[in-house]
Amino acid sequence: MDKLLSSWSSTVESLPENYVFPVDSRSGDATVPICNTLPVIDLTTTLSHDRQDAVQQILEACQDFGFFQVINHGIDDDLVSDTMRVVKEFFDMPNEDKAGVYSEDSSKKCRLYTSTYDYENEEIHLWRDNLRHHCHPIDDFIHLWPEKPARYRDVVGKYSLEMGKLSSRILEIICEGLGLGHGYFGIGVTRAQLFSANHYPPCPSPSLALGLPKHCDANLITFLLQDEIYGLQVYRNGEWVGVEPIPNAFVVILGHQAQVISNGKLTSPEHRAITNSTDNRTSIVYSINPMPDSLIEPAKVLINDSNPPVYRAFQFKEFLKAYEVKKDYNEGALVEFKIKA
Ligand code: OGA
Ligand code: NI
Repeated sequence: MDKLLSSWSSTVESLPENYVFPVDSRSGDATVPICNTLPVIDLTTTLSHDRQDAVQQILEACQDFGFFQVINHGIDDDLVSDTMRVVKEFFDMPNEDKAGVYSEDSSKKCRLYTSTYDYENEEIHLWRDNLRHHCHPIDDFIHLWPEKPARYRDVVGKYSLEMGKLSSRILEIICEGLGLGHGYFGIGVTRAQLFSANHYPPCPSPSLALGLPKHCDANLITFLLQDEIYGLQVYRNGEWVGVEPIPNAFVVILGHQAQVISNGKLTSPEHRAITNSTDNRTSIVYSINPMPDSLIEPAKVLINDSNPPVYRAFQFKEFLKAYEVKKDYNEGALVEFKIKA
């Protein structure tokens, strides 16, 4: 457990060398402003107004940006803030209370660890600790979750059920927008649901380190809840832009699988998490993933003579292997699944 940032980061005055990123990938001294023209979609008003409006807005955001923030999403504010609170309490606990879930075995279905799944072999470590566990179906996994704080399982259990419903709702809207059949993102592509909480402690040299380097998410779709501390940036038109923390909103980010299934119509945006020198930052990712054996391919209804398939069919586990090999985690992972013109 000594490797966890929370065990030692507050005791060092300078950044250890194996946390320093190369110049071209680090966040640098230039401050990236928070951008207030990124799409924010109000789910209640758009839905009550005109469903087609909501479908259109979400589709456009998914095409142009690959991400958007969603507000008035129907999940109780108290549940959302309680989940953030219990996760912060978890990271604040002394090591002995977290020892039960700490593991260096990346095949564990619930574990607390630091940096990436491959700490031993990576050259540069990430400035984050991460608690990650499966949550669907909940009864198969809840016994593995942290036992402390005492209300963790209850609160995160309720949150996971609600996130499962919200993700189906939004995926259904995206489906409709793309013209895919009702329920296209069905059991096979949405079965594995992961809860992943990132803890970014204050960092002595934020311009040299990164919480998470530039990457696209490997999954189908991500629902990210951030606390009030800024740190999420999206790479857009060759520039980094800052994503505003909006209380109780979810940042919806399309993953690589959404890009493949939509035959490149939707984009999976590159993004990263920067650190700061004063505040702990916490983000909670709810990740919707295909099952390892699921077949992923461009949806047949989107393919015709003028729109040939851009990607070949593959099993999700095949993709994950390629993604893990590509240490830069971005577009690179999809290259080998592209059909050569
Ligand atoms: C992720 C991610 C960003 C953040 O976990 O995949 O992009 O702000 N997190 O924590
Ligand atoms: Ni991400």
